[in-house]
Amino acid sequence: MSTLVTGISELRTVTERGTVKDAALVMENGIITWIGAADAAPAADTALDVGGRAVLPGWVDSHTHMVFDGDRAAEFEARIAGESYAASGIAVTMKATRTAGEDRLTGLLKDRIAEAHAGGTTTIETKTGYGLDVRSEVMAARIAAQYVDEVTFLGAHLVPPGQDAEAYLDEVTGPMLEAVAPSVGWIDVFCERGAFTEEQSRRVLAAGRQKGLGLRVHGNQLGPGPGVRLAVEMNAASVDHVNYVSDEDIAALAASDTVATVLPACDLSTREPLAPARRLLDAGVSVAIASNLNPGTSYTSSMNFCVATAVLQQHLSLDEAIAAATIGGAKALRRHPVQGGLDAKGRPAKGVIAVGAAADLHVLSSHTAINLAYRPGMPHTWCTIRAGEIVYQG
Ligand code: NIG
Repeated sequence: MSTLVTGISELRTVTERGTVKDAALVMENGIITWIGAADAAPAADTALDVGGRAVLPGWVDSHTHMVFDGDRAAEFEARIAGESYAASGIAVTMKATRTAGEDRLTGLLKDRIAEAHAGGTTTIETKTGYGLDVRSEVMAARIAAQYVDEVTFLGAHLVPPGQDAEAYLDEVTGPMLEAVAPSVGWIDVFCERGAFTEEQSRRVLAAGRQKGLGLRVHGNQLGPGPGVRLAVEMNAASVDHVNYVSDEDIAALAASDTVATVLPACDLSTREPLAPARRLLDAGVSVAIASNLNPGTSYTSSMNFCVATAVLQQHLSLDEAIAAATIGGAKALRRHPVQGGLDAKGRPAKGVIAVGAAADLHVLSSHTAINLAYRPGMPHTWCTIRAGEIVYQG
């Protein structure tokens, strides 16, 4: 069944084709099959008129922690009263998550995905990392694998209180990794003071690679550190946070295939300096923007908010911010187009509007995408389409 989408005031393809005004597109079986001027549109089985609105690729949220129970509102209140963020808060969420049970965690995850859809997100990566024992990490990975696009094993999020770090790492890189591996495609490590050292992080990543997983790193979030260099050394797909980076770190990223993922909502919530997205782009680094939804440092999945912050406070142009939140995220997940509209594994690519790519569309409420930054905080998402199906209609 083909659908002709009409009434598109501006179609931001995020490809070399740029923005097409007064556009139309056709989608069929979950992929885009035609793009062009409205007056040249072919016939299709059904039609969807979006009423003169702007259309972008659905946001690709390449960094979230969606499988958890409980919140940390009290910790947040203490922070706005002057406390600084510490990784040890993760243990509070660990306790709540371990006792939640599969049905409750599944319901919470589905609610969070629905919220993300309501903000124009169509592709989601999420991490384990609030179970921190074999049973709970496996449960989180299994639940996530049913509902999101990419699942990352983050057993190395924190050493659970009272456990010996090396003994815990033996478990993470041994039985825990073995047990979660069927449900995950990636491994990640929190390489930061208060979490894991460079050597420990290298060990985690090497074990994941040995198991056939792609690599990601949480790095340089709370201070200068080895995370970026380690990610580049290990050819990780992304290093995320990157608040405290040196010129050498930036040069290493620019010469690598590692995407630097900035998390503006997290930076605001933790009152860390915003990651230097402008400097990174100017140096030629591939940049992604993600929400980092989690109860400790970024309790929002709003990519609209992250994009507005990137424009207003990190000095990206609108085109740069949209690209970082779409094809940038897709690169961080290795789901970007490499040939036609297909990714490196021959799947419909994410993060672009191109023939052959996934029919993942974000229809804005307004006729122009500049309103994302010009009218920050307003309800911008009119409709979200994932693989050709409407998953949210405002
Ligand atoms: O990406 N930095 C490490 N992990 C999460 C926060 C986890 C938490 O505090 O619950 C993050 O910010």
